[in-house]
Amino acid sequence: MRVTVIGTGYLGATHAICMAVMGFEVLGVDVDASKVDTLNQGRVPFFEPGLPELLTKALESGRLRFTTSFAEAGAFGDVHFICVGTPQQSGSEAADLTYVDAAVTTLAPYLTRRVLVAGKSTVPVGTAARLADLLHGLAPAGDRVELAWNPEFLREGFAVDDTMKPDRMVFGVTSAWAEQRLREVFEPVLAQGVPVKVTDLQTAELVKVAANSFLATKISYINAMAEICEATGADVHDLAEALAYDERIGGRFLRPGLGFGGGCLPKDIRAFAHRAEELGVGQAVGFLREIDGINRRRRARTVDMVVEICGGDVAGKRIAALGAAFKPNSDDIRDAPALDVAATLRAAGAHVVVYDPAAMDNARRAHPELAYATSALDAARGADVVALLTEWNEFREIEPSAMAAVVRRRKIVDGRHALDPSSWRAAGWEYRALGRPVVQGA
Ligand code: UDX
Repeated sequence: MRVTVIGTGYLGATHAICMAVMGFEVLGVDVDASKVDTLNQGRVPFFEPGLPELLTKALESGRLRFTTSFAEAGAFGDVHFICVGTPQQSGSEAADLTYVDAAVTTLAPYLTRRVLVAGKSTVPVGTAARLADLLHGLAPAGDRVELAWNPEFLREGFAVDDTMKPDRMVFGVTSAWAEQRLREVFEPVLAQGVPVKVTDLQTAELVKVAANSFLATKISYINAMAEICEATGADVHDLAEALAYDERIGGRFLRPGLGFGGGCLPKDIRAFAHRAEELGVGQAVGFLREIDGINRRRRARTVDMVVEICGGDVAGKRIAALGAAFKPNSDDIRDAPALDVAATLRAAGAHVVVYDPAAMDNARRAHPELAYATSALDAARGADVVALLTEWNEFREIEPSAMAAVVRRRKIVDGRHALDPSSWRAAGWEYRALGRPVVQGA
C-alpha cells in the first residue's frame, strides 16, 4: 500500500518518516519547496529528538521522498493523509481551515480511482462531512473516494514515540472498507496492542478537541489553585503532589507554573468554544474561556513577580530569561509563554537576555528586540533577576553557586517549578515561584 502525507510540519513530517520506517512506500507533499528540498536532503526543518536519524534511515531505504506535486501525489497514493495546520484565524477565535480546504481541493482532481483520504489535522466538528462532499464533487472517481478522520495526538518532543506507539488510535469512518484500509495502514502500530476506537466522523473530530480541552483544563485547574495559594500563603507544589496520589486525579498535566502554550492547546480550546457557540451549545464549554483566562493570568503574574522582586520597576534592569520554546525538547515558539513574558518585560524597559537550547533562531526571528546569549550562564552574566521560563533539563542542572558567581543580584523566579528551592536558598538566592510561599524553609 502506498501512502501520501500532505503537509510536512511537525505532524506530517513525523508521520511520513515513521510510515516509511514501518515499511510503507511514502510520498510527502508540501507547497513549500524549500521544506521539500530540506527533507529530501535528509534534514528535518525543526527540532524533534530522534527524528533526524529516522529520516536518514527512511531516505536510505528508498521508501520515502518529498514533492510539491499534487498530480504526483494523486497518482501515487492508495491512502492520502491530510496533515496540514489549522492555526487560529487572525482577529477571531475560530480555526483557519484555509490549508485543509486547499489540500483537499488541490488533491481531489487527481483522484481517479478508489482511494482513502484520511484527515489527521485538528478541525472543528463538522469539517470532515463538508470535506467529504467537496471530495465527491471534485474527484473524477466521485463517491469512490472515501474520507475518514484519524486524529493525531502526538506531543512535540515525543513525536516519534507517540506516532510509533500511541496511547490509542481513533478511526472515524463511514464504511467497513475505510476501516479496513486504516487497519491495514496502521497494522504495524495495532500489532503492538494499541487500542483502536472505530466511530463516526464527528466523534473522531471531537475526540481530539475534547482531549486537548481536558488537558488544558487540568493545567489551568492547578494554576487556579496556585492563585488561591498565593492569597493564603499555601504551597501549590505540595498541594499538587498531594492531589496526585489520588489515582482518579493523577499527577500528569498537574504541574503548576507559567501555563500552557504551543501550536495546539491555546488555539484548540478557543476554536472549540467558538464552534460550540456556532452550534448553539456554547454554554456547555463556556468554562474553556475561564481556562484560557487563568492561563493568560499566569503569564501576567510571572511578569509581576519579576517586577516585584526587582523592587517595583524593571526599567533599566538586566533580566536573564532562561527558555524561549513553549516547552522543553522543542524549538517551537508558537504562543510560547516564555517569550511572551520576556517581550512584556522588555516593553516595560528591562534589558532582557534570552537563552534557549533549541529555539534561538526562531526566537530571534520573532523577537529581534530581545538580546540573546550563548548559554544559561552567559545570559545570567550581570543579571538583576534570573527568570526560568521553560523547564529544560540543562536548567535543572545549573549549580546555584556557579550562577551566583556571574549575576549582579541573586534573585530567581522559577516560572516552571523546575528547581529545588532549598538548594538555591542555601546558595544565597532569593527564590520565588508562582503559588509558593515567599520564604519557605530558609
Ligand atoms: C498537545 C497534546 O498533549 C497532544 O496530545 C496534542 O496532539 C497536541 O497538543 P503539545 O502541544 O506538543 O501537545 O504539548 P504538551 O506536552 O501537551 O504541553 C502543552 C503545554 O502545557 C506546554 O506549554 C507545557 O509547558 C504546558 N504544561 C504541560 C504545563 O504547564 N503543565 C503541565 O502539567 C503539563
